[in-house]
Amino acid sequence: MVWSRRGKITPFSRSSEEMKRVLFRRFSSSSSSFSLNSRRVFSQSSAVASADENAAAAVLAKMPHFDYTPPPYDGPRSEEILRKRSEFLSPSMFHFYKKPLNIVDGKKQYLFDEDGRRYLDAFGGIATVCCGHCHPDVIEAIINQTKRLQHSTVLYLNNAIADFAEALASKMPRDLKVVFFTNSGTEANELAMMIARLYTGCHDIISLRNAYHGNAAGTMGATAQCNWKFNVVQSGVHHALNPDQYRGVFGSDGEKYAKDVEEIIDFGTSGRVAGFISEAIQIEHDFNYYMLSHNLSSILTGVGGILELAPGYLPSVYKTIKKAGGLCIADEVQSGFARIGSHFWGFEAHGVVPDIVTMAKGIGNGIPIGAVVTTPEIAHVLTRRCYFNTFGGNPVCTAAGHAVLKVLEKEKLQENALVVGSYLKDQLMALQEKHEIIGDVRGRGLMLGVELVTDRLKKTPAKTEILHVMESMKDMGVLVGKGGFYGNVFRVTPPLCFSKEDSDFFVDVMDISLSKL
Ligand SMILES: Cc1ncc(COP(=O)(O)O)c(C=O)c1O
Repeated sequence: MVWSRRGKITPFSRSSEEMKRVLFRRFSSSSSSFSLNSRRVFSQSSAVASADENAAAAVLAKMPHFDYTPPPYDGPRSEEILRKRSEFLSPSMFHFYKKPLNIVDGKKQYLFDEDGRRYLDAFGGIATVCCGHCHPDVIEAIINQTKRLQHSTVLYLNNAIADFAEALASKMPRDLKVVFFTNSGTEANELAMMIARLYTGCHDIISLRNAYHGNAAGTMGATAQCNWKFNVVQSGVHHALNPDQYRGVFGSDGEKYAKDVEEIIDFGTSGRVAGFISEAIQIEHDFNYYMLSHNLSSILTGVGGILELAPGYLPSVYKTIKKAGGLCIADEVQSGFARIGSHFWGFEAHGVVPDIVTMAKGIGNGIPIGAVVTTPEIAHVLTRRCYFNTFGGNPVCTAAGHAVLKVLEKEKLQENALVVGSYLKDQLMALQEKHEIIGDVRGRGLMLGVELVTDRLKKTPAKTEILHVMESMKDMGVLVGKGGFYGNVFRVTPPLCFSKEDSDFFVDVMDISLSKL
């Protein structure tokens, strides 16, 4: 791979034209007469492309110019960090890539490693960085608040928490205007589920198969992917059919999937429920990843798929839940904060209004904060006992969150997510025409999924192939997420300042990497 500090291409030993010819020859032989058999044989015999091909690929796919050079890094190198991680951190920790990256700087939609190499960040720290890495307004808000007061707890008054709560409530429909701040998405969902149980006096909650809602006692019950569930008591959650338009039994017929919720209530509960929790766009929560405890080549398979719930599903289920006395909880941890482009919140795209909304990730652009928003009437249940957490509503985190909201509006990042996300999705769908291994392209705005299959009819997950493509994309300067229950789906969730030029580069790199299989 040929790199310069700013991602510009340094001269090759061969001429660019010669390199292009090498690559075009390879493309025309591997993609125009595509055959899965030959693809499989080829991927086994030649997973790693030749230096010539990488160099030629770099000529074709050029990272957009970016006028920023990070300060020199003289800290510990990746090998040293990895050694410390395996010695001093939990063996459950995992990482992407055979040789994990040491990321030391970030600016807007770009990340920089220990050598100053620039990468286009198409994952956004797992759909978390919405305004762009190290946004100056967010940094300024954090610094200013930190200098004045870092922590006091809600036992005293402070304007940062009150101002952000007011701003957040203004983004909500109807009387969803009472905010509880938490430290994470898991904690927000735990609280939401408890509120639903207290308010209704019922225990049963329905969530969707394939869902991810967190990993504490209650939320692990709502999470419905075996890789994320430990064998500990998780009571009172029923998992309904996933209205998955690609793999689901009823295709895009939302009403048919919704029937399953009715049946769960009729046959699996007393007829009354505490509530229903779902994401608006189901996140393929996770990855095939490399686990330190199982040496670096051990691969586990993760779950899910950036799946838009089948149309008509949520309105129908919300009606059913209301009839059974339950509350509807929208988990906006990933789909909220303008990411889907067409709307600020994912639930709005389905034309429903939840009783409780939970959020995290994008709310702080990387600062640890989450929130639960509900109505005054529902919120009142928490006055029956004391409810408190030490850091929830911390002035630094809420000042950051408030700055994030302002940046989203000032820089029209929701509009950008819509325009650039639609442009990128169109390009990815065009790529699907070219590469048979792309079984599905889906999602909205800058929350897109690309599912790889070795057989389009059988939808056989391309688990190994995706690893090669991901490594190759990283080598060419693009970081992308990966997940799906079978670990065969690319998750494209970049910072919302992603540009059309970034999309072009992303698609070129994916195209070249797929062609190398
Ligand atoms: C949809 C959804 N809900 C909840 C969570 C849990 O959030 P956290 O990791 O902040 O606890 C996640 C995390 O990925 C998520 O994707």
